[in-house]
Amino acid sequence: MKEITVAASPNIALIKYWGKRDAKLNLPNNSSISITLSGNLNTITSVSFPGNINVDTLIIDGEKQDWHGSNQKINYMKEILQEMKKIAGISDNVLIESKNSFPSSAGLASSASGAAALVFALAKSFELDLSSKDLSILARRISGSACRSLFGGFVVWHKGIKEDGLDSFAEQIADESYWPEIRDVIALVNPSRKKISSSEGHERTAKTSSLYPNRPAFAESAAIKLIDAIKARDFNSLAEITMRDSNNMHATMLDSWPPIIYLEGASIEIIKGIHSLNEAHGKNIAAYTFDAGPNAHIITLDRHLSEIKGMLNEIEGIKDILVASPGKAPYELAKPI
Ligand code: PMV
Repeated sequence: MKEITVAASPNIALIKYWGKRDAKLNLPNNSSISITLSGNLNTITSVSFPGNINVDTLIIDGEKQDWHGSNQKINYMKEILQEMKKIAGISDNVLIESKNSFPSSAGLASSASGAAALVFALAKSFELDLSSKDLSILARRISGSACRSLFGGFVVWHKGIKEDGLDSFAEQIADESYWPEIRDVIALVNPSRKKISSSEGHERTAKTSSLYPNRPAFAESAAIKLIDAIKARDFNSLAEITMRDSNNMHATMLDSWPPIIYLEGASIEIIKGIHSLNEAHGKNIAAYTFDAGPNAHIITLDRHLSEIKGMLNEIEGIKDILVASPGKAPYELAKPI
C-alpha cells in the first residue's frame, strides 16, 4: 500500500440515465453516453495511512463525513472502501481527503468525479490489479453516472441485464483527442442545491410518469444513433440527438407526480436561444442538455464559442459561464494536496 493523490473529472451525459431497474446497485433502465470534461472542473483525492487515526476517515472539502449518517452516497463509499480493503488484505486505518475544484453547490455533478476519484485512488493506493471497467462497476454503485468518469473522451455506460450488475459498466467510445474542437459551455443559472435529489427523482419518475415506459427504448435507440454520429464526427446529428434526449428526459420529469421541474426561466430562454442560432445557421451549431438541475450544458465546437457567449449574454439570470473540453480519465498526481 502507498500514499497517493489522484484527479478525476465530471462528465456530461448526451444520452441521459434516468430511472433504475435496481436502486441499491444503481442499475439503469437504459444505456447512456457522456463526454468526460476537462478544465478546472475536477476532484482531487488523496489516500494516506497516518497511523494516528483510529477509524477510516473521509474528509470532503474540509468536512469530516459521518459514515453512519443519512447520506446514502457516503454509506456506499464506506461499503466500497471496506470491500477494497478486504480484497487487498489491508487492516490499517485509511485517511481519504477529497477536494472539488468547483463548489458542489454549483449544480455540477461533483458526485461523479468524487466517486471516480475515490475508487481510482483506493485501487492505486492498495495496489489492486483492477481494470478501468472493474473500477467503473465499483464507482457505479456509489453514483450511477460516476461509472462514466473512469474513462476520458466519449464514453458509453452499457445498461446490462444481469441482476448482479456485472455487465453494467462503462466503456470508451473515443478518447479525448478524437474530436478536440468539442466544447461544453456551462451556463450557471442557479447555484443552489437541487430540491429533489437525483435518487428521489429517478424513483418518482419511473414510478409515476405515464410517459416514462417509452423512455428506455427511446434512449436506447438514441444511444445507437449517437455512437454513429460520434464515429462520423457528424455534429449536426449529434446535436439533434442530444437535445431530443434532454427534452425527452425532462418531459418525463414534468409528467411525474408530483411533477419534477428542474428547468427555470433562464434555462427555457437558453433552449429558445439555441434553436434560433441553429435556425439562423441552417444547421445545428450547438445543443443544450440539462441534468437534474437548471444549469445548461451547451455542446458546441470551439469556432462557435463567441457566438454562443453573445447569445447567453442577452439572457437574464445567468450567474456564470464556464467552458470545458473533452477531458481525460482519472490520473495520478505527483504531489499530495
Ligand atoms: O448518477 P445520479 O444518480 O446523480 O444521476 C444522474 C442523472 C443525470 O445527471 C440527470 C443524467 C446522467 O446520465 O448523468
